[in-house]
Amino acid sequence: MSTNCTGLNRGVFTAAVLSNRQFGEHFYKLKLEFSGVGAKSFATFRPGQFVQIDASTAALPPLDKIPGHLLDASKRNILLRRPFSFADVTAGVNKTTAELLYRVLGPATLRMTTLSVGHHLNVIGPLGNGFSIPPNKKLALLVIGGMGAPPLQYLAKVLSVEHPDIEVAAFVGAKTARDLPFEGKADSISKHLGFSIPDFSKHGIESFIATDDGSAGFHGLVTDCLKKWLSERANLDRDGTIIYACGPDAMLAQVAQIARDRKIDCQVSTEQIMACGIGICQSCAVECIVNGSSETVYKLCCKDGPVFDSREVVF
Ligand SMILES: Cc1cc2nc3c(=O)[nH]c(=O)nc-3n(C[C@H](O)[C@H](O)[C@H](O)COP(=O)(O)OP(=O)(O)OC[C@H]3O[C@@H](n4cnc5c(N)ncnc54)[C@H](O)[C@@H]3O)c2cc1C
Ligand code: FES
Repeated sequence: MSTNCTGLNRGVFTAAVLSNRQFGEHFYKLKLEFSGVGAKSFATFRPGQFVQIDASTAALPPLDKIPGHLLDASKRNILLRRPFSFADVTAGVNKTTAELLYRVLGPATLRMTTLSVGHHLNVIGPLGNGFSIPPNKKLALLVIGGMGAPPLQYLAKVLSVEHPDIEVAAFVGAKTARDLPFEGKADSISKHLGFSIPDFSKHGIESFIATDDGSAGFHGLVTDCLKKWLSERANLDRDGTIIYACGPDAMLAQVAQIARDRKIDCQVSTEQIMACGIGICQSCAVECIVNGSSETVYKLCCKDGPVFDSREVVF
């Protein structure tokens, strides 16, 4: 059962675990179900919004299942909730399901690997602003670095369902093929551009892979792959184009520069270490330019973001 303690769209809910499946070396897909008030609240969840999850109730895996490099980290207590986006949300009758894609990095994500059917998780959300889709856009370019995938995967679905008139292409980068957070790829990825990642091709969206070591797709940075693609389109309608990006700061800075140089609208989903996730602790500050001046102010990633106009952020 889900409970809402705020009476608002945003609240504290209990989500039931429907499944939790490993894929690749480091990744898991966790399917959650919200019912009652939670189902209604999460039916409105927009791509780029996030939740704060309390993973402290999940057990650690047995010692022999903990990767050596996480043995020390596994002993840390989990005092704080952890922020996660959703890669998909489906609203049904009195039930809303959400798919959370995560990489095992530390004590919280390690504990999350032991969740299975019958477990329940305490979740605060929906939080943050999410991506917006301005009118008159004809082309959306999604730029993903590693674990930046989930919010843009969900945006791909929303664009294809709610804005079928907008053409979409996805650019996905990682250090190596093993770090691409997608299923059905490793041995089937083409060395050439144009390989379709099933998570995008199922929405009719072409995807371009880039890896730093050349183990899949374009050999180099995803931002160089994007630049190459743009340079081959001399007649691009810049006003009708928008770039959406999520990934490491260095990638976001590059994408913002590419958009600025070409006068293309761009929204970036920023990542900061978060404590409260609801605008109280001030731990997630993002330096932003005050519109029309050289002054800057600090905005909060959790409350004012995590999505910002790329022209606003000081990288
Ligand atoms: C808005 C938002 C959405 C996110 N969505 C997802 C998602 O869909 N899937 C997913 O796997 N992860 C996502 N993350 C990152 C996720 O919150 C961290 O991976 C998680 O907190 C790690 O917890 P841990 O205890 O396992 O590891 P920790 O020990 O807490 O962290 C492991 C390492 O990751 C770094 N780290 C932790 N959190 C962040 C962060 N927010 N930004 C940059 N570095 C960080 C730490 O500095 C440390 O080096 C998101 C983060 C934010 C802010
Ligand atoms: S995480 Fe506390 S203010 Fe943003």
